[in-house]
Order: sequence, then structure tokens, then C-alpha cells
Amino acid sequence: MVHSIPEDTIQRIKNVANIVEVVSEHVVLKKAGRNYLGLCPFHAEKTPSFTVSAEKQIFYCFGCHVGGNVFSFLMQREGLAFPEAVRVLAGRYGIEVPTTHLSPAQKERLSENEQLYRVNAEAMRFFQRTLMEPQSGQKAMSYLVGRGMTRKIIDGFQLGFAPERWDGLYRHLEAKKVPGDLMAKAGVVIPRKDRNGFYDRFRDRVIFPIMNLSQQVIGFGGRVMGLDLPKYLNSPETPIYNKSRCLYGIDKANRPARLSGRVYVVEGYFDVLAMHLYGIENAVATLGTALTPEHVQMIKGMVGASGQVYLVFDSDQAGIKAAQRSVRVFEEGFLDARVLVLPTGHDPDTYLREHGPDEFFKWADKAQGMIPFIISMAINTHGLSLEGKIKVVAEVQESLAAVQDSVARALYIKQLSERLQIDEGAILEKVRLVAGRTMPQVPQKVYRQEQMEVGDSRRLEQQIVAMMLCYPQMIPEIVSRNLIEYFEDVQLQKIARMLGQRGLTEKESAADMVSMIDDPRYRGLMAQLALEECHWDRQGCERFLSQFEARHRRRMREDLQRQIEAAEQNKDTELLSTLLRKKQQQAGRGSINS
Ligand code: UTP
Ligand code: MN
Repeated sequence: MVHSIPEDTIQRIKNVANIVEVVSEHVVLKKAGRNYLGLCPFHAEKTPSFTVSAEKQIFYCFGCHVGGNVFSFLMQREGLAFPEAVRVLAGRYGIEVPTTHLSPAQKERLSENEQLYRVNAEAMRFFQRTLMEPQSGQKAMSYLVGRGMTRKIIDGFQLGFAPERWDGLYRHLEAKKVPGDLMAKAGVVIPRKDRNGFYDRFRDRVIFPIMNLSQQVIGFGGRVMGLDLPKYLNSPETPIYNKSRCLYGIDKANRPARLSGRVYVVEGYFDVLAMHLYGIENAVATLGTALTPEHVQMIKGMVGASGQVYLVFDSDQAGIKAAQRSVRVFEEGFLDARVLVLPTGHDPDTYLREHGPDEFFKWADKAQGMIPFIISMAINTHGLSLEGKIKVVAEVQESLAAVQDSVARALYIKQLSERLQIDEGAILEKVRLVAGRTMPQVPQKVYRQEQMEVGDSRRLEQQIVAMMLCYPQMIPEIVSRNLIEYFEDVQLQKIARMLGQRGLTEKESAADMVSMIDDPRYRGLMAQLALEECHWDRQGCERFLSQFEARHRRRMREDLQRQIEAAEQNKDTELLSTLLRKKQQQAGRGSINS
């Protein structure tokens, strides 16, 4: 792997980083025997097949066959390059990553994403400082205080202020030697139309930095303080900011959500702040978008498959639409959610400030499941006249069809039939029709690794690799008997050679080996083999190796025999005599060795 981080820094990180801790921030893990088990964050599943070993410091999903060590986990989960994953872990465990040894050329090559994080972090500091300055920040500070924000919230969320200038941030970053193109790529400035220079994207706005789970700044939201439009301006999509994959406040909500098994999903920045203000810290906001499958996976990573998810909506109308849109996303992510609609005219921010948290919790207790909510709302809207009932069924049939659990679906249909006094069979028929039409429409985002077809030889070769991993005492013998050279699978052969040359020393763990494999399919395979319970003993190993060797010889003999027969048919006497000599030699070797 080509990167510019010193080996000993990486080694120090490996020594302290704990994969269980790191994965736990993304997946709810439960102890299961020697390992930990949870719902795979790389594909949608109902029953856990994602395994993490503290002992071996590796993970492997028996469902989608993704596997690796702590670095590869972060790389795949957060879309990071190796050096970025190293830096995230270094930051987490307080290990400094030196950059002084880099040549200017190397510095330039530092991955782009990392540069974008740095630009954002620097922009955030600029906005924060501007807010804190008595003169420049006064207006914004009064605005925030006027909205009930305390110093603790302002600091905790690292709020800032973008001054009312065209080039405040631009000049600041320019002085820090950040190239204009990079600022533009991070979305904090915009190239001028005449292509002559750049101007600040955020001007005269209160700034909300948006973080990922690893507390890196991925983007910003900015609110006007008056009545101008748009009310909020957000970062554009960049290589590190994708609004369908971020939840405002997730960095702070993660722990409390995990501990309580509950998370509130609200609509706005200020709602998250207000929830915190009243001590409700398990709250995240979608930023002006409908919930996506990625959001659902992130939420599930915080609260687990049986977690309580409350979707908090400002109004009936928005709530109905959003709930209808979200049913399928939640169903396909195997997660249940409740819908909490606040009294007309309220959002969590105004509601909490008017009624306080106790009333909020009381209201939350009344939240309905998504399907009952959609049914109730449809009945409210259309009434129970003949036409009304027809409209109700038409409106809820899609949502019912999206329910994956057939028992749950049957129960909802029964409930609907009772409320509408319509025959269950008739509703069921409608739902079936919709299901048949729409089920395959939304392709599930499954990162299923192409399953490797496992040939006979392959399986045996895998076993030998597994043996080398868990019973390394056999490695010298495997090497001296030349068994690795008989491997048919080139990748497995590479892995076995690697193990043969280096073995697994005290310091080099299975996790290190895993990280040396570039092909993700084989990385997964390695993780799987390394996780296997060790069932080898010396005698078993010997027997297995002899069988493997004998099988190889038999196959060689059969192969040679086929060649001889072909040569006989073709009357190729020269080839025939060579082959026969070979056969004699083979027989001779066989009798000495076996
Ligand atoms: P709201 O209009 O409900 O605003 O938008 P709010 O959060 O209650 O804001 P305040 O209380 O008036 O300050 C909800 C969310 O939708 C996104 C923002 O993320 C906002 O928090 N939004 C809204 C935008 O991205 N752009 C907009 O112009 C408006
Ligand atoms: Mn609001």
C-alpha cells in the first residue's frame, strides 16, 4: 500500500485501537461466545451475521462475506482511503501522525478527501472565531441567545458565524495557503462567473458545522437571521458530503441513542439543538431530505434492529407524506419506527420551549407505528363514507404492500378491515396486486460480495491456509514439503506463501495479514478463515497434509496418463517417450515418499 505514514505510527495505532470499540460506534454488538455479533452495516439483514473478534481484531460478515481489520472497517464504512482511516484512529486514540517528514510532492498527494476535511475544519474555526469576537459576532450571538441557546450548546455544536462580506473566509483560507480550487471543491467558496477568483458561499449567516461519526466536519448549514430566502443554505454535494448519508447531530446522538435504545429523528438544525438544551441528546436531523436507506442503516447502527425510532414531524401534512415515503425504506432496512406529530404550528424546538420535556415525552408515548399512523390519517382525511373508504384503501395499499413480515401485514389488513367494515379478502387482494407490481422496484442496496464458487481443490487449499493461521507450528512442514506450490488457486497460493515466509509472529496478527490483501473477496475469506474455531491438532494436521499431497500426486498421475493416451492416438512417438520417462520418475518418487 502506498502511503506516507510511518510504519511505527501505524504499529502504535494497531497496538491501542480496539476493533470492538470502533465497530461499536456503527453497529450494536452483543457478546456471543468468544466473538461479538451484530447486524451487518454493509447489507440489510434481519438476523445478525456480522462477527467481530476482539481476540483477533478482525470482522467478518457471514451474510455478505465482507471482512477485514479495524482499518478496512473504517475505510469501507466511511469511504475513507487508508491514510484517512489511520488518521481517524490516530485522532481517536490520541496518537500524533507526523507530517513533517513529507516532501512537498508527497504533501500534494495526500488524499483529496483528507485535504477537504482540513479545509472544512479550518473554515469551521474561522466561523467560530468570528462568532466569538465581540464586534463581528455580536448580531449572530444575540440571535442565538434570543433563540434560547446557551454557551454550552453553542460551544458543543461548534456554531459559528459567516461575516457579511464576499471574501471573509476566502481571505482567511488564502492566508493559510489553501488553493482556491480546493476551497471550491469543499463547497465553502464559489468560483466567480468570469472565472476570476472566488467568493464566499456563506455570508451573514449563522453556521452549523455538520459532522460525521468520527467528528470530522463534512459540510455546513447556514441560517439567515432575518427573513431572507432561502432560510437555510447547505454545502453542496462534495466528495465528503452527501446529504443522503448524513444526519445532523449523529456524532453526539450516537452514545446516548445506543445506551437508551431510542433515537428521535427531527427535521431541523434548531430542533436538534433544542432537544439537547432539554437534555434529550439522542436526536438527529435529516437535512431537508426524505429518509434514505443509508439513513436507516445509520440509525440501525445506533439502536440496533429492535431499537425505538421516533420520527418527529412538525405537521400532519408533512408527516403523512414523509411517513408514506419512509415505510418502504424502513421495512426494507428491517427497522420499525413510530411517528410523532406535534400539535399544529409546533416543531420540537418551539414545543419544548413552550411545554418542556415532560410534556414532550408524554406526547411521544402516544406515537403510533407507521402503518397505524398512515391508516388513521387516511381515515381522518377521507372519512368513512363509501367513497371515503375506497380512497382510504387506495391510499394505504402501497404502504401495506411494503410490509415485509407477512404476519404483521396480515394483522394490519385485519385491523383495516375492521375499521372500514370491509371484507379482509378484498383488501388483501388489492395489497397483493400492488405487491406484485411494486416489490422488485426498489433495488436493495446490498454490498454482497460475489460469492466465490468453491471447487474441491479450493476447499482443501483454504483448509491449509486456515491451518497455517490457527496452528502455525505446521508452517515449516507445509513449506518444506512444497505443498503451497501445488495450489491451484493463485490468490490462496499468494496468501499461503505470505504466511509461509513470515509466519505469524507474536507481533504480527491475523489482522495484519488481512490488511495485506488487496482483493476484498480474499480479504473477507481470510477474515473468515482466521475466525474459524481451531480444530486442528498435530496428528490431524499431518493426516490432512498427507491426504492433500496424495491427492495432488494422483491428479498428476491421471493428468499424465491422459497426455500419454493422447500422444498414443496422435502417434507422436517423441512426446510419448518423454511422457513415459516422466511417468517412471513419478512412480519412483512416489515409492520413496509414501
Ligand atoms: P424548517 O423550515 O422547518 O426550519 O426546515 P426549522 O428547522 O424549524 O428552522 P428555524 O426553526 O426556523 O430556524 C427544516 C429543515 O429543513 C432544511 C434545514 O435543514 C432545516 O433545519 N431546510 C429548510 C433547508 O435546507 N433549506 C431551507 O431553506 C429550509
Ligand atoms: Mn424551527
